Amino acid sequence: MADLSTTFTGIRFVNPFLLSSAPPTESDSNIMRAFEAGWGGVVTKTIGLHPVVNVKGPKTKFLRADNGDSRLSMTKRPNSTLLASWNWELISDKAIDWWLPRLERIKKAYPDRALIASIMAGSGNDKELHNWQMLTKAAQDAGCDGLELNFSCPHMDRVDMGSNVGKDKVLCSVVTMAVKEVATIPVWVKLTPATANIVEEAEASFRGGADAISSSNTFPSLPLIDPNTLEFEMNVEGYVSSGGLGGPAILPLSLAKMAQMTKAFPDKEFSGIGGIANFDHALSYFLLGCGTVQVCTAAMLDQAIGPNVIKALTAGMTEFMEKRGFASLSDFRGIRRDRIVPHSQIKRPEQLQYHGGYEEEIEGYAEVAAARD
Ligand SMILES: Cc1cc2nc3c(=O)[nH]c(=O)nc-3n(C[C@H](O)[C@H](O)[C@H](O)COP(=O)(O)O)c2cc1C
Repeated sequence: MADLSTTFTGIRFVNPFLLSSAPPTESDSNIMRAFEAGWGGVVTKTIGLHPVVNVKGPKTKFLRADNGDSRLSMTKRPNSTLLASWNWELISDKAIDWWLPRLERIKKAYPDRALIASIMAGSGNDKELHNWQMLTKAAQDAGCDGLELNFSCPHMDRVDMGSNVGKDKVLCSVVTMAVKEVATIPVWVKLTPATANIVEEAEASFRGGADAISSSNTFPSLPLIDPNTLEFEMNVEGYVSSGGLGGPAILPLSLAKMAQMTKAFPDKEFSGIGGIANFDHALSYFLLGCGTVQVCTAAMLDQAIGPNVIKALTAGMTEFMEKRGFASLSDFRGIRRDRIVPHSQIKRPEQLQYHGGYEEEIEGYAEVAAARD
């Protein structure tokens, strides 16, 4: 029988599948339902200290394509296929005092499931760094198994919060160090995909002491404009703000970000997120080196916490391992990481060579030209 259990950053998981920080983990009732359904762990909806007020109206919608046609729309309709979620939801609007007794109760009721608290504060001054430390101590005193630092929320106006931290290497290090000063449990950092070279922010976070990187959060994006009304498909009184794209559309994008990091840091721990709805999707992250994966959009669309999604993930993993004779995740984790190489190392037809755009290989080009003549 395949063993789905795994140890990631020192935390034991009955399986490597987690619900990510989002509506599926916004309450104790959701989280307990998720554990009942079989999820190995959850990352709570991000908990902060500042007051949160969400926009008027829907916070999330789903972009679908007509089957066999190019029409894209958020209008719910038959004969269409899900492409992506789009959201502009802020972090939890529940205060830390609401969360703490609930975290304690969840952990007592499900001691064998991993409870990771997602936390977020500012980073512009010592008081804000102290807020990170307060959140850290509160979550670990409540019995959480680990922390995920939200350096990736794409909706913050504040320049020292959310993805604005994840876009600043110095802040990534400074905040992680502040948290690690007081943390007695593993610390994961959730990075934004909205940077030029995510390896740099990952390196800075590891330098600050991060035990793992989680990636990706949603990608910055806008809803489409309805060609009939000339209004954004999602708006409040005509106005919109940049939001986050998740779901199937971001799977290849998120894999690319993840591969950059797992190749740069083959000995570090990574939790893959983005576009996962079944085991095949999760497998790509595992083969690139991830030790756990997290799910949001697919779970939101499956009774809010994904009972069928987790069933399919564990069944898919069991079947895959039995078919291939793998005893545990460590037998296949990272085994396709080395297949990603610079463009010029991909074989060209016949004897022709390509040198990645470099000029000094001019002889090579002359030979190519001669070969053609
Ligand atoms: C409505 C919504 C709310 C979210 N809230 C948070 C949050 O509070 N903290 C966080 O770290 N990520 C948040 N996320 C991002 C998800 O955890 C996840 O990283 C992203 O949706 C990509 O995964 P997916 O493709 O499975 O949806 C949110 C996503 C959605 C759709």
